[in-house]
Amino acid sequence: MLVSAKEMLEKAVAGGYAVAQFNINNLEWTKSILLECEELKTPVILGVSEGAGKYMTGFKTVAAMVKAMDESLGITVPVALHLDHGSYEGAKACIEAGFTSIMFDGSSLPIDENIEKTKELVAICHEKGISIEAEVGGIGGEEDGVSSTGECADPAECKMINDLGVDMLACGIGNIHGKYPDNWEGLQFQVLEAVKAEVGNTPLVLHGGSGIPDEQIKKAISMGVAKVNVNTECQLVFAAATRKYIEEGKDQQGKGYDPRKLLAPGAQAIRDEVKDRVAVFGSANKA
Ligand code: 13P
Repeated sequence: MLVSAKEMLEKAVAGGYAVAQFNINNLEWTKSILLECEELKTPVILGVSEGAGKYMTGFKTVAAMVKAMDESLGITVPVALHLDHGSYEGAKACIEAGFTSIMFDGSSLPIDENIEKTKELVAICHEKGISIEAEVGGIGGEEDGVSSTGECADPAECKMINDLGVDMLACGIGNIHGKYPDNWEGLQFQVLEAVKAEVGNTPLVLHGGSGIPDEQIKKAISMGVAKVNVNTECQLVFAAATRKYIEEGKDQQGKGYDPRKLLAPGAQAIRDEVKDRVAVFGSANKA
């Protein structure tokens, strides 16, 4: 069932758990995530970065594939199709293509411009029943060529963006995309606490969910995070399972080179990872 992310996130805030955003890259990714979330009876958000959208030949292709797959697999749990770190133009393209949720990432813009563009997109999205995420404070690291050194969000700026009526808010609290360096200082909970005090019950989003110790994720959820984004972890487990299959020579046995066989261990690894993350985020049986 393709829906906006608004209701599932409001329920998560009220219930003290978080909904996962798993980023998708292709058909296998999407199928694995949908099947596992249906089995776990968890709501889910499918994240699509602009780079991944381009790779899949465009947002229209992605929206058509997700909508058709959701129907063909008989998925009953709420699924939001969400643009991840969208530009202003990307956000408009996804609204047009049939996404049910978007993120406008104006965090690298001067705050006045971030406010102006977010405000315009909030009005467009809400008119169409689409949920919208905004960002304050860059998330560090690199994702699809978009990199940032990472900075903690200014709680006053979070309030200004929140007051525009966004459905969810991403704020930098020391989190980064990709693998965390050994000398990473951990999540800055005092920043999260200060942001929460300014934004009330607006669901907060934790980007860079891969590699944060589970205890820190659980603490962040208890403090108002209701959406956790995971991308790199699925990529790592998919690559490891595929490498194992090939290193064991299984692609050389019988018809082991058939892509349906070659990609099966990676697809299963994604399902296992989804199960593991959903258990930590607490959203199983909440659909
Ligand atoms: P990771 O790749 O670090 O899990 O981050 C995902 C993310 O935040 C997508 O926006």
